[in-house]
Amino acid sequence: MIEAKNIYLAYDENKFIIKKGSFTIKEKEFVFIGGTSGSGKSTLLKSFYGDIPLKHGSLLIDGKQVNSISNKSLRSLRKDIGIIFQDYKLINEISIEENIMIPLKINGYSNDISRNQALKLLSHVKLSHRKGFKPNELSGGEQQRVAVARALAHNPKIIIADEPTGNLDDSSAQIVWNLLKGANEQLGITVVVVTHRVPKNLGIRFKHLSIEDGIIYEVS
Ligand SMILES: Nc1ncnc2c1ncn2[C@@H]1O[C@H](COP(=O)(O)OP(=O)(O)O)[C@@H](O)[C@H]1O
Ligand SMILES: [Mg+2]
Repeated sequence: MIEAKNIYLAYDENKFIIKKGSFTIKEKEFVFIGGTSGSGKSTLLKSFYGDIPLKHGSLLIDGKQVNSISNKSLRSLRKDIGIIFQDYKLINEISIEENIMIPLKINGYSNDISRNQALKLLSHVKLSHRKGFKPNELSGGEQQRVAVARALAHNPKIIIADEPTGNLDDSSAQIVWNLLKGANEQLGITVVVVTHRVPKNLGIRFKHLSIEDGIIYEVS
């Protein structure tokens, strides 16, 4: 699903954030990525969705080589990916229902189909009663549930989440972990999550990678 061989990532030529990164993430695997603040976790995730080019090496995502990707294939790669951020990144000017419809409309679905799917997902994240609300009328935990629904909307093969529980209290965090677990177990979605704190008692098998001094290694 994700295969990195000797990847190097940098914002400027003389400082590599990630060096010699090699790892494999299999289909349907649940993966945590740890490491201290500034160690390069977000940078690594960006390489997965084509936001930062590789300096060297090879990175295959779902069989697509992201370093030599054309704009058209980048769009097709992003169809396979749902992304969740620490700060939700919802659009405050429109309702949460419309927020969830966005990835569907980008992917060419009609308004009716998009709305139907959004309503199903709102029900899945237990926010049907809030459908006309705008994001900033909800709590942080509720906003992140909307972001999870949006990430799931277009049936991605991979979910990439960057500190998704970083701004949440424990009980809201638990709900988000359970939604990600469900996406993995019930929908077979590969889940890659950056987090400082791997949740205890998640009740799921996972791989744990960590970044230290630019080197990615597997935590045993
Ligand atoms: N857009 C950018 N331009 C230049 N340097 C950046 C940029 N984003 C992050 N960095 C630097 O790259 C390093 C890794 O950052 P980041 O991947 O955000 O770390 P983490 O997510 O692990 O906290 C840090 O030193 C950070 O300052
Ligand atoms: Mg980060």
